[in-house]
Amino acid sequence: MRAAVLGGGAWGGVLAWLLAGRGHEVALWEPDGSAAEALARQRTNARSVAGFRLPDAIAVSTDLPAVCRDRELIVVAVPSQFVRVTLGTAAPAITGAPVVVCASKGLEPGTGATMAEVVTASLPGARAVVLSGPSFAQEIAAGLPAALVAASTDAGAAGVVQSCFGGERLRIYTSDDVVGVCVGGALKNVIAIAVGCCDGFGLGESARAALITRGLAEMGRLAVRLGGQALTLAGLAGLGDLVLTCTGDLSRNRQVGLALARGESLPAVIAKLGHVAEGVGTALTARDVAKRLGVDMPITREVAAALHEGKPARDAFHDLLARDVRPER
Ligand SMILES: NC(=O)c1ccc[n+]([C@@H]2O[C@H](COP(=O)([O-])OP(=O)(O)OC[C@H]3O[C@@H](n4cnc5c(N)ncnc54)[C@H](O)[C@@H]3O)[C@@H](O)[C@H]2O)c1
Repeated sequence: MRAAVLGGGAWGGVLAWLLAGRGHEVALWEPDGSAAEALARQRTNARSVAGFRLPDAIAVSTDLPAVCRDRELIVVAVPSQFVRVTLGTAAPAITGAPVVVCASKGLEPGTGATMAEVVTASLPGARAVVLSGPSFAQEIAAGLPAALVAASTDAGAAGVVQSCFGGERLRIYTSDDVVGVCVGGALKNVIAIAVGCCDGFGLGESARAALITRGLAEMGRLAVRLGGQALTLAGLAGLGDLVLTCTGDLSRNRQVGLALARGESLPAVIAKLGHVAEGVGTALTARDVAKRLGVDMPITREVAAALHEGKPARDAFHDLLARDVRPER
C-alpha cells in the first residue's frame, strides 16, 4: 500500500519502519525541520529510539499535504493535542477513503474527545482505526514480540491494519469497541503517573497492585459511560497497556510519577523527558469529562490535582486513602 506516517518521533518512526519492512511504500512527515533533516540524512533523530535506523526507502518531508497525497493508509503518531490540527491541515490533500490509523493515545484537551472522534470529525470520509495496546517503541524496534489491537466500526479497515502491521512477532487483534480501546489507551497513562508516584514514595507492591486494579475500575466506568464495553478494558488496550505503563521503567508517565515523588517540578520533569508524556494533559481532561458526566474517578482526580493544582502528591495519596470504603465496583 501507499502509506503515510505523520510524526517522526519514537512511535511514528517505528511504525514507519514496520510498514516499510512489510513492503509498503512509506512517506514520513516530521514537522520539526531539524528533526526531519536528521531523519532524512542520518536516518535517526533525537526523538528516535536508541539504536534505531529509519530505512533508506522511507521518504521524509516537512510538507504535510505532499506526504498525504494519494495515500491509501495514513498513520497518525503525533501527541494527541495536535491530532486535529495535523489532520485538518492534511485534509485538503486527502482524497478517496483512506484507512486512517490513530496511534496517538489521549483525550483531546478542551473538547475531551477521544482520538477516534477527532479523526472522524477531521476526515469525515476516512475509514478510522485506532491502534493501541501494550507497546514500547524500543521493544518493537528490537523485534521483541508484542500484541496490539486495531479497533474500528469498519471491520474491513481494522483488517487492513491487522494485515499491514501484523507479522510473526507482532500480533494484531481486531475490535469493534472503538470507545473502550480509546479510553483504555488514554487513561492508562494517568494511572501510571499515580503508580510511579506510589512506587517513588516506597508505598509497596500491595499498594501498587491496588492502584492498578482500582485504576482499571475507574477506566472501565468512564468507558461504559461513553458507550464502550467493560470487557474491552480487560483486554490489550486496557489491562494489557495499563500493566505495561504502570510497571515498565521505559514508561514516561511512570517516570513522571517517580519524579514527582522525588519532589521535582512538573516543568522540570517534562523538560528532562524530551518526549511527550500524554498522561499529564489527559489527567486534567479526563477529570473534567468525568465530572461533567458524573463518573467517579478518584485516582484521576488526585493525579490532576497533584500535577496541575499544586496539591502535594503525599496529600493526594492521603485523600485517596481517607475516602469512605464501599462495595467493590
Ligand atoms: N513511544 C511509544 O512507545 C508509544 C507507543 C504507543 C503509542 N504512543 C503514542 O504515540 C504518540 C506519539 O508518541 P511518541 O512516543 O512518538 O512521541 P515523541 O515525543 O517521540 O514524538 C512526537 C512527534 O510529534 C511531533 N510533534 C511535536 N509537536 C507537534 C505539533 N505541534 N504538531 C504536530 N506534530 C508535532 C514531533 O515532531 C514528533 O514527530 C503519543 O500519543 C503516544 O502516547 C507512543
